[in-house]
Amino acid sequence: MEKRFKVMTVFGTRPEAIKMAPVVKALERQESIDCCVILTAQHREMLDQVVDLFQIKASYDLNLMKHGQTLSSLTARVIEGIDPILAEEKPDLVLVQGDTSTTFVAALAAFYHRIPVGHIEAGLRTGKKYSPWPEEINRKLTTGLADLHFAPTTLAKDNLLREGISPEKIYVTGNTVIDALLATVKKEYEFADQNLSKILNANSDKRLILLTTHRRENLGEPMRQIYQALAQILAEHSDTYVIFPMHKNPAVRSVVAEVLGKEQRIHLIEPLDYEPFVNLLARADLILTDSGGIQEEAPSLGKPVLCVRDTTERPEAVAAGTVLLVGTEYQRVYASLTKLLTDRQIYQKMAQTANPYGDGLASLRIADIVIDYLENSKNKNIY
Ligand code: UD1
Ligand code: UDP
Repeated sequence: MEKRFKVMTVFGTRPEAIKMAPVVKALERQESIDCCVILTAQHREMLDQVVDLFQIKASYDLNLMKHGQTLSSLTARVIEGIDPILAEEKPDLVLVQGDTSTTFVAALAAFYHRIPVGHIEAGLRTGKKYSPWPEEINRKLTTGLADLHFAPTTLAKDNLLREGISPEKIYVTGNTVIDALLATVKKEYEFADQNLSKILNANSDKRLILLTTHRRENLGEPMRQIYQALAQILAEHSDTYVIFPMHKNPAVRSVVAEVLGKEQRIHLIEPLDYEPFVNLLARADLILTDSGGIQEEAPSLGKPVLCVRDTTERPEAVAAGTVLLVGTEYQRVYASLTKLLTDRQIYQKMAQTANPYGDGLASLRIADIVIDYLENSKNKNIY
């Protein structure tokens, strides 16, 4: 069958790749679609592991990452990098995912070429300009640029309606993070990583706290306080240990080295590949994180999350009872960890599985909607 439409997907960071991979796979199965993948490589190693796992073939790799990159320099490099590709490829639709610099800038570049934009994971909001920073504004700006809005939940749809987006442009699809998760978590998963297996075997009689932190607004003092609270918890609970796959950002690692460098039962490891990471998530007793994606994965796995942020754009996970917002101050993080480790009832209440983010079919829905949209806009002047 003739490839009648060209759909370009653009992504650059670990979470975008994880959530875009199922969509790329679903589009590749559509006979009428020529699927063109652009990697900005805003991330490098953390992106590559996902691209390899899902066997995604990229048409372009902009290889943009620079260590310690600033938001402005990154923004400039992304737009300069994408612009000539759009001019050359002339896709019928550009798909972006989430709220990173890559997301917003790719949508902006497509708009400058008058190419329609589909936004996956649209409508997440905290209502606070600097929390998370810069993601809240990236999402809002991407909404302003998008023609198709793939909202993961009805709450996200409501946020878009409140901002005046017309209902016929919004589709509630579920979050593609669940599509990736269900395809990757295995019941009897064997960890191939020798270092990780060794840590798990040596601590099989202890409770595992999985830690990840990377938000820009948490760099410096907030992270210091989170880590100090955790170190105190370890000192008081000898049956616990921590695995911390550290984000590659050097600004995160400098605080880690300062506060946690000498802690005995905290295992500081390199970021895990997605497959071992989600299978480790499934084995953890509790999770301490400022990640967005992990808040979506945890309810499906029934893993309590203490979210070390002041706001969340994922209220569904809080309503499901799996995620508790605990801020970043030492006393509150310490008290919340203590409660969860000592009160069985509270722990059990949070450790219920729930699926507020979908059934694993979001990417198939998105592919169907994309085809319908392209069929209907054929021969129409959309400008
Ligand atoms: C970015 C996104 C954030 C998302 C996060 C997911 C923006 C502004 N931020 O934040 O929304 O939650 O990704 O992890 O888009 N680095 C490496 N190797 C890698 C990845 C990063 O060395 O594979 C280091 C580099 O020094 C880089 C730094 O981390 O400069 C920060 O990367 P960047 O993408 O700018 O910001 P993140 O904090 O990762
Ligand atoms: N993740 C991973 N390896 C790790 C830590 C996280 O593969 O060592 C995955 C995790 O399962 C989730 C995603 O990365 O799907 C979340 O990415 P991150 O926390 O970096 O970004 P956010 O979701 O906050 O934008």
